[in-house]
Amino acid sequence: MRIVVLVSGTGSNLQAVIDAVKAGELDVEIVAVGADRPGTYGVERSAAAGLATFVVDFKDYADRADWNAALTKAVASYDPDVVVSSGFMRIVSPEFIDAFGGKYLNTHPALLPAFPGAHGVRDAMAYGVKVTGCTVHWADAGVDTGPIIAQEAVEIAPDDTEDTLHERIKVVERRLLVRTLAELAAGKHA
Ligand code: GRF
Repeated sequence: MRIVVLVSGTGSNLQAVIDAVKAGELDVEIVAVGADRPGTYGVERSAAAGLATFVVDFKDYADRADWNAALTKAVASYDPDVVVSSGFMRIVSPEFIDAFGGKYLNTHPALLPAFPGAHGVRDAMAYGVKVTGCTVHWADAGVDTGPIIAQEAVEIAPDDTEDTLHERIKVVERRLLVRTLAELAAGKHA
């Protein structure tokens, strides 16, 4: 199974995928890692791991449609079976998702449909829920919407900050992402 992974940040979830592939625990080929802006640690660590990388900088395009078209072209050039949004902080167009047969996987640090958007951890804490978690799902063109594949709960501790909670969620998120990719590679969730 060929995957392209899209990142906007540090790519620690991506690193878990890289490590699992290297360890022979995950039978997928990371054919490229792409970002929406230059200078991400996600791209840097991928290049260091010997992976192909690309940047389709949002700022280089006149509008979102142009950027989406360029992103679609860049990703399609690697002919992926599945595209993974791993901390990719931009909404892609329906045309992008169609171009990859709807195989656009996203991870989110909350129990969807609760707390979608860029601040899922902060919003869950602000609401005062006692349990949050993470979700791996097929993404459609909405904000963190689309069919859910896997979820796991994480309790919020009274002394949690957004950072401590997010780190604990990410430990679970990495495991769920690697497991889901292994299941996809084995032909599940088609
Ligand atoms: C993850 O929690 C992801 O769900 C969220 O941003 C975080 C990305 O972390 N959208 P990293 O870049 O993989 O470290």
